[in-house]
Amino acid sequence: MNQTPNSETHAPTPRQAAFCRAAADLLRTTFQEPFEMWLPSGGWRRLVATGGQTADAAHDDATRVGFCTAIAERPLPDVHRLTADRCLLGIPIAVAGELKAVAIREFATNSPQLALQLAEAFLHRWAQEEKVRGLTEENSSLAEQISEDFEELMFLRSLAENLDISNAGAKLETIARNVLPLLNQSVAAEWLAFVAADRDGQAVAELVAADGADFRNFDVVRKIIDDFRDEVLAQPVVRNRVHSTGGHWRYPGVREFVLVPAATDSKMIGWLVAINRQFVDRESLWQLSQLEFGSHEASLMATTATIVATQASNIELLREKEGLLVSVARALVTAIEAKDEYTRGHSERVALYSRRLGSQLGYTPAEADRLYLAALLHDIGKIGICDATLKKPGKLTEEEFREIQAHPEKGWEILQGIEPLAYVIPGMLQHHERIDGRGYPDGLEGEEISLDSRIMAVADAFDAMTSDRPYRKGMPLEKAEAILREGAGSQWDSGVVDAFFEVRDEIFEIRRDFIPAQRPVRDRTAPAHPGCRTATPTQEPSLAKLPG
Ligand SMILES: [Fe+2]
Repeated sequence: MNQTPNSETHAPTPRQAAFCRAAADLLRTTFQEPFEMWLPSGGWRRLVATGGQTADAAHDDATRVGFCTAIAERPLPDVHRLTADRCLLGIPIAVAGELKAVAIREFATNSPQLALQLAEAFLHRWAQEEKVRGLTEENSSLAEQISEDFEELMFLRSLAENLDISNAGAKLETIARNVLPLLNQSVAAEWLAFVAADRDGQAVAELVAADGADFRNFDVVRKIIDDFRDEVLAQPVVRNRVHSTGGHWRYPGVREFVLVPAATDSKMIGWLVAINRQFVDRESLWQLSQLEFGSHEASLMATTATIVATQASNIELLREKEGLLVSVARALVTAIEAKDEYTRGHSERVALYSRRLGSQLGYTPAEADRLYLAALLHDIGKIGICDATLKKPGKLTEEEFREIQAHPEKGWEILQGIEPLAYVIPGMLQHHERIDGRGYPDGLEGEEISLDSRIMAVADAFDAMTSDRPYRKGMPLEKAEAILREGAGSQWDSGVVDAFFEVRDEIFEIRRDFIPAQRPVRDRTAPAHPGCRTATPTQEPSLAKLPG
């Protein structure tokens, strides 16, 4: 066979090597002889086996090159006579209708028709095997898609659970810290971060949280966000440097990145950015998908960013709502204190003591905040008690005492229609119940009384005993402590009293440092609120608009 030395070799692509191996195997089975494989890459090159490796070699066999060209043009099996007794058999090898190679074998000329018939038989089997290969590829592609979908589903499920755990009281930073490691299991970025936008949603405000090795050059991240801030609003931006041949690559240290916006319909919260793909599986490094970011990663990141943005927006709304509730509660407290100057600060102090006791007894910060609000409103029913009874300096008559005792139920009447404050009602209603069942309004015993109320009862009693009243001075702290100890287990829950003594110094500190809120003084010169109409409409109705 006329063949030059392998002066130049080119590694075939993995796909070329795979179909050439498949075709060579089938040719050997059909003809019981090996074939040369010629590839049309930059001119015809012959694929040779060298030391178990395959490589294509430059070849100057003009006859074979010409024969390959002729077969590629038809493309059908053909025979080319070399000498009186030798000829070449050439077979086009196509994949999905596209010529990928020409297989050539030198034969004795005694049976060219038989060689062509065998070539036809080979092509028939090759076509059948191609169908099988197509189905197999389709199957593996579907399996990969199902695996990606499953992975996405599992991720979204853990994300939802995580957001539930982190609850609406969590900060954006906490959510991002929880979500990023989960997301990065699928995105496989060297560095995956949530970057917050400024108030206008235009510029980078700060790095909120990141997963992966430190990416020290945050200025590059700023540059990426600046460059793609507008483009990313339409769709995720995926850039792999290997494909970015046009222009200068502006991002030192970055091989590839994905940028997605975290936004709700009305507000830009920030961006999720993934920098550099991790080399997850060295065995499959030849697969491009292992080296680059693609639509799968971008889609997961976009979904996550939307969920995080929605959660952050919900948190903000909830905070606004809670702020409004506390403002309403304070307004109600101001109304009680306006009736009785001597109770000024009492509700706030009871709320502060209760929150501290709640934390000591294992309340979460969110539960302790709720307890604070309930305690702030514990005496709200006193709004319904007549001033003379409430402010009476001397001993109360039985009737007056009964009137005072009605304040928890009056509180219930005031709060029962305010659905967002429903959770404060049990604590408020039961704060004068006693562990021994001799309290009011319902004579509940032990754990029939909510823990909120048992805590508030201790806080309320301590503050009542140690505060000045119109008819007496506040008692010394030691005496109040002695009364609490004595009443533990009968008037008060002994566990709560124990908690009180565990944090006694902090309670004293709260009491010592407490400054009652000053009564607001109205500025008579302040302009009316812009939402308030100040002038009577003077415009006459248009005659044109009057009927008939
Ligand atoms: Fe009370």
